[in-house]
Amino acid sequence: MSARGITVRGCGISVPDKVLTNEDLSATLDTSDAWITERTGIKERRVGGITSQMAIEAGRRAIQDAGLEPADIAVVLLATTTPDALVPATSATVQAGIGVPGGAFDLNAACSGFVHGLVAAAGLVAVGSGRVLLIGADALSRITDWDNRTMAVLVGDGAGAVVVEPAEGTGDLLSWNFGADGTLRHLLKCDHGGYLTMDGKEVFRKAVRVVVESAERALADAGFTAADVSLLVPHQANLRIIQAACHRLGIPEERTAVVIDRYGNTSSASIPLALDDALRSGRVSTGDLVLLTGFGGGMTWASALLRWGR
Ligand code: COA
Repeated sequence: MSARGITVRGCGISVPDKVLTNEDLSATLDTSDAWITERTGIKERRVGGITSQMAIEAGRRAIQDAGLEPADIAVVLLATTTPDALVPATSATVQAGIGVPGGAFDLNAACSGFVHGLVAAAGLVAVGSGRVLLIGADALSRITDWDNRTMAVLVGDGAGAVVVEPAEGTGDLLSWNFGADGTLRHLLKCDHGGYLTMDGKEVFRKAVRVVVESAERALADAGFTAADVSLLVPHQANLRIIQAACHRLGIPEERTAVVIDRYGNTSSASIPLALDDALRSGRVSTGDLVLLTGFGGGMTWASALLRWGR
């Protein structure tokens, strides 16, 4: 089949019902609502999620939002760092749960998984796959030591999904880039059977730098500047990281999607959760330039610039 561009059509999310507020955490940990709010921007998060269940719900909603049926999807691509099990691939559970007739595979690029997934989906579409259901889903609460205040205040569970479908011509993905530096493995990791650990200060410093470089490269590659961006949708790890990146990029916070106050850091789910919120609040119009950018353990990072098509 001939190569094709993509368009993003339909979006859906799912988060667990259980809300954990900063006050709830302060009851069991040496922390406070004031500290968490000031240092991270997080007020509450959802916990108790199961990756496949959240992914199934978000995926169904995205398909419905696109006005499609599960039978219209050719591939389920699940970005996750917290699969239900090592084997089978969680995407296969999701494929069966939604009733998609096509193939399924998982992708792990930590918190930048969704942006990697978007570009991978575009590659599949270009070689003739048909529609890809791209889901970012993570249950970080399951790999968090709830007695460790450093991690416990940051994380949450959730899932977000979009349908990536073939478009006429070059489509809506204007530019993208990936980056990784495996020598920084020690900054953020979780070994088999263990809990997430992190060097927060170093992650913070490095994250701001790589996000800004990656976002600027995506803009330059497509011939744009920060002034042209209608909406920045960054990974939601810490409000101060988002603010520092916005400041350096020269993108005002009013043109940035932020949901970290409600959900905390949901890893692969954070960008689609923020995108869905922006779409539902009418913040994205046809023709807008939307810049997605993420970073995570590895370290890995990725950006994708879209001309919003619908
Ligand atoms: N509650 C209350 N106090 C805390 C705390 C918590 N959860 N964690 C640390 N503190 C204390 C420290 O003990 C320290 O006390 P001291 O001044 O008496 O020594 C003080 O708060 C400052 O700690 P520090 O580690 O310097 O805070 P920080 O401003 O670097 O913020 C993070 C810590 C983790 C919020 C921040 O470094 C961060 O967000 N890093 C990036 C994390 C990230 O993005 N991870 C995911 C990547 S995908």
